[in-house]
Amino acid sequence: MMNHPGTSGADRWNNSKTDLKMKYGHFDDAAREYVITQHKTPWPWINYLGNKDFFSIISNTAGGYSFYRDARLRRITRYRYNNVPADDGGKYFYINDNGSVWSPGWKPVKAEVEDYSCRHGMGYTRIGSARGNLRADILYFVPLGDTCEVQRVTLRNTGAMPKHIKLFSFTEWCLWNALDDQTNFQRNFSTGEVEVEESVIYHKTEYRERRNHYAFHSVNSPVAGFDTDRETFLGIYNGFDHPETVFSGRPRNSIAHGWSPVASHCLETVLEPGEVKEYIFVLGYIENPDNEKFIAPKVINKVRAKAMIGRYDTSEKVDAAFAKLKEYWDSQLSVISLSHPDPRLERMVNTWNPYQCMATYNFSRSTSYFESGIGRGMGFRDSNQDLVGYVQMIAQQSRDRIIDIASTQLNDGSAYHQYQPLTKRGNAEIGGNFNDDPLWLIFGVAAYLKETGDWSILDEMVPFNNNPDDAASLFEHLRRSFMYVVNHLGPHGLPLIGRADWNDCLNLNCFSSNPDESFQTTENQKGGQAESLFIAAMFVLYGADFVTIARRRGEIQMADEASDHIDAMVRAVNEHGWDGDWFLRAYDFYGRKVGSHENEEGKIFIESQGMCIMAGIGLEDGRALKALTSVNKHLACEYGIVLNNPAFTKYYLHLGEISSYPEGYKENAGIFCHNNPWIIIAETLAGNGHRAFDYYSRITPSYLEEISDLHKTEPYVYSQMIAGKDAFRPGEAKNSWLTGTASWSYYAITQYILGIRPDYDGLLVDPCIPPDWGGFTVRRKFRGAVYNIEIINPEHKSKGVWEITVDGKKVDSCILPVFPEGTEHDVKITM
Ligand code: GLC
Ligand code: GLC
Repeated sequence: MMNHPGTSGADRWNNSKTDLKMKYGHFDDAAREYVITQHKTPWPWINYLGNKDFFSIISNTAGGYSFYRDARLRRITRYRYNNVPADDGGKYFYINDNGSVWSPGWKPVKAEVEDYSCRHGMGYTRIGSARGNLRADILYFVPLGDTCEVQRVTLRNTGAMPKHIKLFSFTEWCLWNALDDQTNFQRNFSTGEVEVEESVIYHKTEYRERRNHYAFHSVNSPVAGFDTDRETFLGIYNGFDHPETVFSGRPRNSIAHGWSPVASHCLETVLEPGEVKEYIFVLGYIENPDNEKFIAPKVINKVRAKAMIGRYDTSEKVDAAFAKLKEYWDSQLSVISLSHPDPRLERMVNTWNPYQCMATYNFSRSTSYFESGIGRGMGFRDSNQDLVGYVQMIAQQSRDRIIDIASTQLNDGSAYHQYQPLTKRGNAEIGGNFNDDPLWLIFGVAAYLKETGDWSILDEMVPFNNNPDDAASLFEHLRRSFMYVVNHLGPHGLPLIGRADWNDCLNLNCFSSNPDESFQTTENQKGGQAESLFIAAMFVLYGADFVTIARRRGEIQMADEASDHIDAMVRAVNEHGWDGDWFLRAYDFYGRKVGSHENEEGKIFIESQGMCIMAGIGLEDGRALKALTSVNKHLACEYGIVLNNPAFTKYYLHLGEISSYPEGYKENAGIFCHNNPWIIIAETLAGNGHRAFDYYSRITPSYLEEISDLHKTEPYVYSQMIAGKDAFRPGEAKNSWLTGTASWSYYAITQYILGIRPDYDGLLVDPCIPPDWGGFTVRRKFRGAVYNIEIINPEHKSKGVWEITVDGKKVDSCILPVFPEGTEHDVKITM
């Protein structure tokens, strides 16, 4: 179809939800799995394996890769992003069944298979299918506490005749540094080295010099042959779909010298009718101390590898490790358990949303099928926000994370925008001066205190800029965060935006007209006065937490002064931040309004509506309701709430990157899901349970399963962006998994809609639900006790708690007390 400039996306793409019904699988809630039954998903649908040091990404056709801690510096296996065909390269298995060659995960061979399924579960993935009376299933998982991936292959002869089978494994090694691996071929093609001993293939590139780590791929059975040179294994002009060795059934026992080292085992076996055979492969990563690197010249020390292989060399051992992994996840996910008549809601709250939050804990924004693992590190603001999604599961790690983040803060209270996960140091190259950053630290710490009650964290001595000679208590870090805003106010008494605030793309001070410079790092132009309503509202909202914290530490004067600053900010917002029907977004470099009805485009933005109302501004005088009505009228669409509208149709030098995107995408009027929960929370504060939940379900993946063809990304995790109403194809999502949407959605549903909210002195209960809900129950673990909370809604209210009983006795506070550890209590709430 021709592109008609000027017609809206909805006109060009007939996008009624009912026209696009297509599912590719289903949820298995009891097993906490998503079961993909159609292998040609609209986009590879992935899962993550690993909990601590060794991680893998795996797609539904066994694509993906592994790395140790850092996806850029310690990439173990190779992966080519944006490849053709899509998602080529992974942990592949090939079967040559008497000349019929196929792969259990359909790819890479793409021979027709029967009964294909991929089960993505909690930290594991099972992929399998059948062809010609042979069934093959592979279980992939990373055991707790080890630096390896276990791959258990099960073969079953379902026919009446014996089968003579050859099974080939395939892994392509990455030469460790993922960026270098994709770019520095003049060197790389000469460095590759391997060793083969019995059934184990060792990858030892660069081990002779500065590296003290190697990787291996093993199998617990004698091999008929192997290959380690890619060109020999595949044939130079073949793809992964047609390896010469596999099709000819003849491994060549090649040893890689440079070029591209791989690992392929060939196993030969006969399966009698009905017989089942299992093979256990281990893909491991080993570090040796410098003085234990070699056992003979050039021969690597394999003691640790052999010990690791020995830990998984029988089915019983693998079963036991797998059971431990299950236990771990069941326990992680037992903190909040919802019983509700709607399974789509239950499965998000009980399983997939907290699971995704753990992925953001592990990977921040670094590595997914949209993040290449070589670009971005940990975001100062991102990681603080992610924390509210996982602090209830991993309090100790959250505490450590807070200290890591705060250690990169600068001593004037400002922050590096990102830091490197491996070194934990602030990264100056990525740009700074995002003036919202410091306040997110208060948000993160407050969330930690409310969940854990661990006030000792505030006394931790934490360096500024990782300099141990310049350290102060964490509380002092919070004070500097707060004061940074106070010390950077603009002409209207509103916070200066700096390079940008939460919206990286609203570059009010940067003026970039050079295509060769990055929007992210262009320097601020001197003399600007751009101010942010978003930061103003954040200051009011999280400033209140700072005041509470200061007061509780006996810093009365500091708390009073901070309160005065907050009051002044509220006045500034009231005077200069209201546009008549909604809150303004900002003032630009020249002091002109952004996000006003006076603007030609970008008249209204979502962020300031959400933040201001979350901060309580306008709730008493009707402005909040007005703003929410405006959001509903101008920003809400079938697939969620767009970021701004009307979309920018041309590039505005003084607005920057936001106006660089085509209409309806990313920050230019895309549904940037991260901020939808701000409106959802605002709706609950205004008492609109129906609208809050309606917005929630528009972006929540389990509610989009039926339109997978349009939505494209996984129906079990949130995506950063769904194309907005002005886009060519509204409703199409991108950038799944690593997004602040995970934690904010979890926070909004559990704490504001279901309304069970950790607070400094206990668990506050204040649901705001659609009036047609009759009730629900939540089992909540909180500070060592269990709260069995039953909420009933006989009058079909949206909000308002009528009566609370605890263990049968009436209480009159909405804040349930902190109970002794190990106790369990029944709470009944009548709305
Ligand atoms: C991305 C960034 C986040 C930013 C948002 C909006 O999600 O990770 O830091 O706030 O985009 O620009
Ligand atoms: C771009 C993206 C934004 C992201 C930022 C992070 O600005 O549009 O979403 O936060 O890059 O680097």
